Amino acid sequence: MNDNSRNIDVSDFDNNFNFETRTVTLNSGYEMPILGLGTWTQSNEETANSVYYALENGYRLIDTAQYYGNEYGVGKGLRRAIDNGIVTREEVFITTKIMPSSYNNAYNSIDESLERLGVDYIDLLLIHQPGTNDEAVYKAMEQGVRDGKVRSIGISNYYTKEEVEEVLSYATITPAVIQNENHIYYQNTELQEYVSKYGIIIESWYPFGGRGHTSYNFNNETIKSIATKYNKTSAQIILRWQLQALYIVIPGSSNLDHILENYSIFDFELDDEDMKNIANINNSQRYEIW
Ligand SMILES: NC(=O)c1ccc[n+]([C@@H]2O[C@H](COP(=O)([O-])OP(=O)(O)OC[C@H]3O[C@@H](n4cnc5c(N)ncnc54)[C@H](OP(=O)(O)O)[C@@H]3O)[C@@H](O)[C@H]2O)c1
Repeated sequence: MNDNSRNIDVSDFDNNFNFETRTVTLNSGYEMPILGLGTWTQSNEETANSVYYALENGYRLIDTAQYYGNEYGVGKGLRRAIDNGIVTREEVFITTKIMPSSYNNAYNSIDESLERLGVDYIDLLLIHQPGTNDEAVYKAMEQGVRDGKVRSIGISNYYTKEEVEEVLSYATITPAVIQNENHIYYQNTELQEYVSKYGIIIESWYPFGGRGHTSYNFNNETIKSIATKYNKTSAQIILRWQLQALYIVIPGSSNLDHILENYSIFDFELDDEDMKNIANINNSQRYEIW
């Protein structure tokens, strides 16, 4: 289904992003940076370097997962940045996700993540994707919050109202974030609109379509012409659109130039017409099915 007609007015949402502090207040009460670094496919060594470089250049949100095998690298980059006086632990927001194979061992896996990350709390913990055991995993994450090991919890790869409603039916702590595939070709504004009444924020993975699809996204004619208008790159236009459309965004990169470029999007603003034109690119096409 094409939802181009839905150009929703995000100014109606309660959770407006603060472009000065570059954060949003989650329904858990914690502040979350709205632009962060994705680390999928990066080795521990690459991750440590990209995390350090990102923190050195203003990023305060890092996205990892048990499944990526690089939580250790995130911890290493973070520790180096703390040791060099760039950030304090409190200033950095770390997201990790419980891997499907840990679903029978969800609570213990929180301790294992804390150990690999070298921190004593996780800022945001997500169920990586729906499975057979979601309720038990969600309850383990809630226990993690009660025990002070986790600050906010959420879910990932839940795309429909029905899937989210099921989680809400057993949740005693409302999810703060839903992290989903989301880009110019798959905007899923229905879900965003539905969950906004719970103060739930959508966070986008694959903002550039992921590896193998980036040129297709960067070469979209609408994006290219808006990029020329603002003298910015396609990547910067896409990321700025994500933020103005109230999606937290975590572009993945281990390239230092790209890491810098992706954070340099706070010195311009897309106008309403640009936002509408980008909304109209949507054709509800996803790249992945998980
Ligand atoms: N919850 C989930 O199931 C899930 C699934 C997938 C991803 N994620 C998370 O979301 C993050 C983002 O997704 P992703 O990394 O897979 O895809 P992505 O951010 O859409 O694209 C990453 C690709 O874009 C390139 N790139 C980054 N910045 C660029 C720039 N300014 N100019 C040109 N190319 C650029 C990267 O290459 P270089 O390294 O060379 O810059 C990499 O090949 C992941 O890293 C991960 O943390 C979550």
